[in-house]
Amino acid sequence: MQTHQDKRGLAITVAGAAAADAHDALTDAYLGFRIDTGGRLKAALQADPEAPLHQTMAGYIFHLMCQKPLLERAAAASAKATSLAENRGNAREKLHAQALAAWTAGDLRAAVQALEAVLIDWPTDVLALKLAHYLHFYLGDVAEHRDSVARVMPHWRPHIPGYAAVLGMRAFGLEEAGHYDEAERFGRRAVELDPSDTWSIHAVTHVLEMQGRHREGIAWVARDVSAWDGKVHNFANHVWWHKALYHLELDEPEAVLDLYDNRFRSEATDDGLDIANAAAMLMRLKCRDVNCGDRWEALAAVAATKAADHILPFNDLHIALAFAGAGRGSLADAMAARGAAGDDHWAAIYRDIAAPMAAGIAAYGTGDYAAAVKALAPVRYAWGAIGGSHAQRDVFQQMLIDAAMRAGDWRHASALLAERQALKPHSRDTARRAAQAAAAVSVAAAG
Ligand SMILES: [Fe+2]
Repeated sequence: MQTHQDKRGLAITVAGAAAADAHDALTDAYLGFRIDTGGRLKAALQADPEAPLHQTMAGYIFHLMCQKPLLERAAAASAKATSLAENRGNAREKLHAQALAAWTAGDLRAAVQALEAVLIDWPTDVLALKLAHYLHFYLGDVAEHRDSVARVMPHWRPHIPGYAAVLGMRAFGLEEAGHYDEAERFGRRAVELDPSDTWSIHAVTHVLEMQGRHREGIAWVARDVSAWDGKVHNFANHVWWHKALYHLELDEPEAVLDLYDNRFRSEATDDGLDIANAAAMLMRLKCRDVNCGDRWEALAAVAATKAADHILPFNDLHIALAFAGAGRGSLADAMAARGAAGDDHWAAIYRDIAAPMAAGIAAYGTGDYAAAVKALAPVRYAWGAIGGSHAQRDVFQQMLIDAAMRAGDWRHASALLAERQALKPHSRDTARRAAQAAAAVSVAAAG
């Protein structure tokens, strides 16, 4: 076992130069959402199964895939990584092994803290940066998500491999924190430097979504598809999902369904993000009275196979959307039981936030709109803790508004719509609903 350097000059403990190259190739694949990430992982493990960071990366990737059968493999990789790092790893590799062990134990705060500790001493550890970016995102840490990348920026230069990806992370952190102009500058610069960097493309799609620039957004996603589509794994589906969001806002449901059928739900996968894309889009259409036919049941049948996993409340809540649309039962009790049974990071969030949301979603599905409002309204300022983006969680806000309107709770609907119009002054759907609610309130006042 020798010390080599990765392509950013960080020391890694590996058997030889070929294993160091395999580490770099795996890191690049992970950073770029590349279709060959699994193959790169296998190659790294074959090149040197005793390299501490190879085992740690295996554990990280198993967790990132969010599949129950892979959690045992993540735990095995974590145990091996801990032992290897203790016996022969350097200080950075030991911290990575600690991050993986904390993640495996369900202590996501400790995991992200270990990654942030890596970044204090090794700010060009792009693997730690990307993993911290992911965890802050799912922990709902908007300010930390932004600042985590800001802290390392002074140490990055354009010649350091991964620079464009770092700019893309900076862009997305800024976007989620509401700094849209700065986010767009970083995102566009990143895409100029690396047209295939899908996370950077995606960061700009979020800016355009949040600013209501829907026509620009459609053109942005479609402008250089060959640079990323077909090279990126299922994250590409999420980019197509964003294009569908723009069409939805422009009152083009046929285009939305075309993208659903031919892009982001063309395959009936059981991946959590794929299910989330599909369920959230069908629910947005349902709120607009668009008939989605048998898509609901097809989606719910796949989602049902993941309903007992309870790995991420974000994923569970999207399964709940699929169930609500397909006329299946409530998942609120199961989520509450998951909360009561665990002592990990997610337990309290399942109990206090996800279970009430699931109750509201189920009530919406059965047409008990007053109950939906009653369940969703009290937790709406807390549901950032389930993670995901503002654009993704917006489906729950749209359901709350729609439920208030369908329940005839016009004053509440009108108040929610006033708030939404202040945030989204270009939204046609919001303007239409606000006018409808205002008219209903004045009729009631006149009566
Ligand atoms: Fe997104």
